[in-house]
Amino acid sequence: MTVVVERTEVAIIGAGPAGLVLAHLLARAGIDCVILEDCSRAHVEGRVRAGVLEFPTVELLRELGLTDRLDREAMIHRGVEFAFGGQRRRIDFEALTGRHITVYGQREVVRDLIASWLDRGGALHFEVSDVVIHDADGDRPSVTYRADGRSHRLDAAIVAGCDGFQGVSRASVPAGALEVAERNYPFAWLGILAEAPPTTEELIYSSHERGFALYSMRSPTITRLYLQVAPDDTVGHWPAERIWDELATRLPTDAGFELRQGPILETAITAMRGFVASPMRHGRLFLAGDAAHIVPPTGAKGLNLAVADVVVLADAVERFLRRGDPRGLDGYSAVCLRRVWRIQRFSAWMTAMLHRFDGGDRFARQLQLAELEQVTTSVAAATSLAEIYVGLPFERR
Ligand code: APR
Ligand code: PHB
Repeated sequence: MTVVVERTEVAIIGAGPAGLVLAHLLARAGIDCVILEDCSRAHVEGRVRAGVLEFPTVELLRELGLTDRLDREAMIHRGVEFAFGGQRRRIDFEALTGRHITVYGQREVVRDLIASWLDRGGALHFEVSDVVIHDADGDRPSVTYRADGRSHRLDAAIVAGCDGFQGVSRASVPAGALEVAERNYPFAWLGILAEAPPTTEELIYSSHERGFALYSMRSPTITRLYLQVAPDDTVGHWPAERIWDELATRLPTDAGFELRQGPILETAITAMRGFVASPMRHGRLFLAGDAAHIVPPTGAKGLNLAVADVVVLADAVERFLRRGDPRGLDGYSAVCLRRVWRIQRFSAWMTAMLHRFDGGDRFARQLQLAELEQVTTSVAAATSLAEIYVGLPFERR
């Protein structure tokens, strides 16, 4: 059987935000790479995911020349609101940190990254199958896969495992070489995409006795909503009428807020978990993004954390391949994990503060409300939330 053999400097597995941003960063540094993706382009570009971009994430996309459409279509949010105990309180990011967040769907980010990568002639193979990583612990790793009915082998100096939580990269590390820390939350999120104009300028995180709800948006005509549901719940239990009733109950009821309804375009249920695999490296295989860690979505950090990883990785790879200096690669996991754990802490804290915990007592509920009171009245506490929400500066090494 003939095997098509190709050579590159960095083999990237996965065309999500991690793999695509890494590819753009490496290309800027003049480093050759190939991206392998097991899904179709339509599938990758169609997935509805989160939509909050940190300030440093947008700065990086701008540096890479990837914000033409974002600058036209994205929405700048200068703060965020918390609703609890019948009131609404705003945290003013701009006043507290001088920075803002950008609301632009991850799906749009991925579309822009793919279009520009292909435009510049970048290598990206969709619908590959049977991806296997070989010799990650030697200095000549390779990746084999099948595409167009043929077997391929991609030889590389570095393999970047950017294939998400269910990918092959983390799974290919021998048992015992990775340590896992994990927390599963006793609830899930029902995500709803609705064709209805948003009626507020900013996101509303609502902590309600019946459970958490989040009011977000994608454009002047599309609202994005989330409801805390049971971990084993299914979308079949949530016809449109029940969704709107529950949202109306959990979101603010004051005169200043209007929940506009419209056709529901999509619903999906996402489990809530925190997960970290360490180290984020096995020999020449480097894990980045969801392949290495998952955060509960309450902090809106998944994509941003993936981008932070590949900023460190691209810099480390350049030092190694162009200057023969392995120190960046050696420090990669420790540098990334420092941020990962700060973001896990933030996401766990936001999750605990805002969700309903079944079996929780009155005392625990009062503590949640007091926490929300503290974070929305103390400038020190609000600043602590704001500086992480808008995005900690990237570390390069
Ligand atoms: N071979 C090739 N590609 C694969 C394989 C495989 N065996 N397994 C998975 N993939 C692809 C997926 O189809 C997906 O396109 O890897 C990509 C991983 O992308 P993401 O899951 O988006 O992960 P990441 O790039 O780390 O981005 C993290 O995106 O998934 C969200 O919630 C997540 O917001 C977070 C951010
Ligand atoms: C979203 O708009 O999809 C979104 C916003 C904030 C979150 C999570 C998701 O915390």
